Amino acid sequence: MSLQLSTQDQAKLSGKQGPAVQMAMSILVQMAEVYGASELLDITGAHIDSTIYIGEAGLEFAERLASLGAHVAVPSTLNVSGLDEHHWQEWPVPEDWARNAHRQMVAYQSMGVVPTWTCAPYQSDMRPKFGQQIAWGESNAIVFANSVIGARTERYPDLLDICCAITARVPAVGLHLKENRAGDILINLVDLPLEVGKDDSFYPVLGHLMGKVARDRIPVVTGLRAHPTEDQFKALGAAVATSGTVALYHIVGVTPEAGTLESAFQGREPVEMINVTMDDLRLAYRELDTYEGDQLDMVALGCPHFSIEEFKRLIPMLVGMQKHADVEFLVTSSRAMIELAIKAGYVNVLESFGGRVTVDTCILATPMLPPAIKTLMTNSGKYAYYAPGMLGTSVVFGGLEDCVQSAIAGYIVRDNSIWVR
Ligand code: F3S
Repeated sequence: MSLQLSTQDQAKLSGKQGPAVQMAMSILVQMAEVYGASELLDITGAHIDSTIYIGEAGLEFAERLASLGAHVAVPSTLNVSGLDEHHWQEWPVPEDWARNAHRQMVAYQSMGVVPTWTCAPYQSDMRPKFGQQIAWGESNAIVFANSVIGARTERYPDLLDICCAITARVPAVGLHLKENRAGDILINLVDLPLEVGKDDSFYPVLGHLMGKVARDRIPVVTGLRAHPTEDQFKALGAAVATSGTVALYHIVGVTPEAGTLESAFQGREPVEMINVTMDDLRLAYRELDTYEGDQLDMVALGCPHFSIEEFKRLIPMLVGMQKHADVEFLVTSSRAMIELAIKAGYVNVLESFGGRVTVDTCILATPMLPPAIKTLMTNSGKYAYYAPGMLGTSVVFGGLEDCVQSAIAGYIVRDNSIWVR
C-alpha cells in the first residue's frame, strides 16, 4: 500500500511551513516509503541522538537545518554530545574536535530542543507516559521507553530523529503499532536464585545474554522473582540493545505490557523457547571481561548516565576513603543529575575521594581519555562491550562496590561470589 499523506503533511512537504519543515518532511516521507508505511502518525515528543559529533556530514546537516530556521514541533530532548561543554579542557580533547562538536551543540540548541545532553532522558521530567507515540534515538533510551514505560517508539537513526521532531510525525510502522509489540521468543530463567535477581551486576549480564539470543526480536522473560529497580532496568536495557538490537523486551509480571505470559505474546505462540541457567549466565558474565590480569588504570561509571539514586548508593562507599593515585575514577552523568548531586553534597565527597565527573557526553562519545588508560573497569555492560573496540582498552566488568574497592586498592578486586559456583 502506498503512503497516504494528510493535508497537513502535504502542506509541510510543499514548503508552506518553511524550508526547514519541507526538508525534514521530504526526508521523513522517503524513509516512510522505505519502511513500507501507509501513513504517518502524530508524536508527543522526541529524543535527538544526532547530537554526537562524528564528522563533517552530521555537523553540516545540523547547521543546514538550523540555517533554514528549523524548530522542533514537539517537546524534545538532546542526547549526549561530543563534548563536555564547560569542562572539556580538563581532558586531552583536541581543540579542532571541540570546536566542531560545539558547533553541533549550538546548531541543535538553536532548534528549540531542551539541552538535556543525556542518554538517559527517562531520568528527566520530560519522561513520556504509557502508550504515548514518540520518536526516540539512542538504543538504551529506546528500549527503556518501550519496555519499562510502555511508550511507543521505533529505533530512530541519527538525522531521522530530528526530522520527526520538526514535523511532529513518524511512519506508522513497527513498534508504533500494538500488533507489532508482541513477544517473539521466550527466555525462561531456570531456578534463578532470588539474591542473584536482586544483584545489580545481574542485569547487564542478563541484558548481554538476551541481546545475543534475541538479536532484533522481542524477548519475553519469565522466572525473574525480583522486581528490578529503575537503575537495574537501565543497565539491562543498555546491555540488551548493545549485544543485540533489541528495542523492546517484556518481563512477565513486571513490565507494563506483560501482566501475563499471554498478554506479552498477545495470545500468539513464541517462535522459540530458551531455558537460561546459571551456567549460561556465568558464561555471559565472563564474556563481558576482556582482561585477565589485575592492573587497573581507570574506573568508569555512568553508562547510561548516572542517576541520583546511583549517587546515593555510591557516596557512602567513598566517605573518608581515597582512591589510589594511579587510578582515574570517573562518573559520567547529565547536568540535571549533577546539579542534584551537588545540592546533596555528593559531588564534594566524590571529589574528596579523588573522583571526577563529566557531563554532556561520555568516554565513547568524546576523545577525552589519555593514552595511558589501557585497562578500564566498569559496572556497565555497554561500556564493557564497546570500549575494547572503540577505545582499544581492556575491560573488566564488576559491580559498583567492586569498582570502588578496585579504585581504592589500585588493582582489580572483585567479589564474584554470586557468579562463582
Ligand atoms: Fe550513554 Fe555513552 Fe553509555 S551515550 S549509554 S554513557 S556509551
